[in-house]
Amino acid sequence: MKSAEKGREIRPASGKLGVLLPGMGAVATTFIAGVEAIRSGLTRPVGSLTQMGTIRLGKRTDNRCPRIDEFVPLAPLSALEFGGWDIYEDNTYEAAKNAGVLNNEHLAALKPFMEKVKPWPAVFDPQYVKKLHGTHVKKGSSKKDLAEQVEADILRFKKEKGLDRLVMVWCGSTEVYREAGEVHSTIEKFEKGLAESHPDILPSMIYAYAAIKNGIPYANGAPNLSADFPALLDLAKKTGAPIGGKDFKTGQTLMKTILAPGFKARLLGMNGWYSTNILGNRDGEVLDDPESFKTKEVSKLGVLEHILQPQLYPDLYGKIHHVVRINYYPPRGDNKEGWDNIDIFGWMGYPMQIKVDFLCRDSILAAPIVLDLAIFFDLASRAGMSGIQEWLSFYFKSPQCAPGLYPEHDLFIQLMKLKNTLRHLRGEDLITHLGLEYYD
Ligand SMILES: NC(=O)c1ccc[n+]([C@@H]2O[C@H](COP(=O)([O-])OP(=O)(O)OC[C@H]3O[C@@H](n4cnc5c(N)ncnc54)[C@H](O)[C@@H]3O)[C@@H](O)[C@H]2O)c1
Repeated sequence: MKSAEKGREIRPASGKLGVLLPGMGAVATTFIAGVEAIRSGLTRPVGSLTQMGTIRLGKRTDNRCPRIDEFVPLAPLSALEFGGWDIYEDNTYEAAKNAGVLNNEHLAALKPFMEKVKPWPAVFDPQYVKKLHGTHVKKGSSKKDLAEQVEADILRFKKEKGLDRLVMVWCGSTEVYREAGEVHSTIEKFEKGLAESHPDILPSMIYAYAAIKNGIPYANGAPNLSADFPALLDLAKKTGAPIGGKDFKTGQTLMKTILAPGFKARLLGMNGWYSTNILGNRDGEVLDDPESFKTKEVSKLGVLEHILQPQLYPDLYGKIHHVVRINYYPPRGDNKEGWDNIDIFGWMGYPMQIKVDFLCRDSILAAPIVLDLAIFFDLASRAGMSGIQEWLSFYFKSPQCAPGLYPEHDLFIQLMKLKNTLRHLRGEDLITHLGLEYYD
């Protein structure tokens, strides 16, 4: 049954949707390959909520459980066009081959399509990603000039492909750690900083600025500051651009935000959580630089504290040793192995241990997230939702949220928030799981 409120007006998803990808490495090329493979009938969209998920509506006895893509108007996969930038000029077939994620059979089948998707020259400066040295980069008289060149790329792509709408998902490398400073405090100071090539304006911020200025949704798949500061948040409100980040929630952090809520639900105590990884792809190489790792570490460490709330449960979670390590180990390529040792304690304080050994595939886990973010951010835009999209925290390790709020990390609360937002958009009753009415 529909609630009194009618829901929001949502513009139809007609026409083509351009997906802009700054950084066309392992994740971006696996995403593009997967979408084309699904469109060609080679595979199913496993891991994607927008393509495979369902949503319960009304009471449990109503038996209303449509697919999400039937419930809200989403851009179909056939409407997606891909564009992007990289510091290497390899087309996406060559980049996917180098990334070593996909097998030869898939690569061969997708080659004709992927060879045609070629990155544009990037905005890049090796002082912010120290391990990489590409030559496919833009030259500009200032950072403002570079931002204008990115805008020109976007507008040209839109025209050439006859696109109706655009969305940008940062899939570039993790930049060195920066906190928001004076230059990030207002849009006036930020634009002055662009004109003066301020050193605290990093390339990812330039892409984000170009997108947001044009009302294009911006989602940040890396832990970089990128669009998480007042100047771009204010700009997003003005231009109507939805934004979100940071850092795709894939392997180890996904497991952490699945397991930790369970321990807390049963009030099992915790003394420590030691996480370590071996990873051999280019992302692993970039994260081998301590300054890029610092950005990642901050993103990964926040999770437990927010889920376990040691301030409310000092006896259970007041003294946790939480350690996160990433080790660059080339033989493994994209097939990361993540180990977790969790020291918990139970009744009368007796200790127990849990070991998790996750042999995962980083880009295979990240690709459906890129797809869902592109599709849901486009929905948000058509529904007139601007600024931070907290309902999409589900996809991020370090979710952006309003100033003064703490981020919600619990995967199950995040999913409930996401689905309730969809119900809200369509004027359906929110589901609280109270359920007393079944027993009246
Ligand atoms: N794969 C995962 O599970 C996962 C999870 C969370 C976050 N991430 C993040 O997603 C990003 C992409 O991961 P990946 O495995 O594809 O890495 P990757 O190294 O294979 O790809 C990143 C690409 O970005 C390019 N690049 C770097 N700076 C750029 C710039 N300024 N402009 C344009 N291109 C630029 C690089 O040349 C590279 O091709 C990384 O920041 C990573 O930390 C990945």
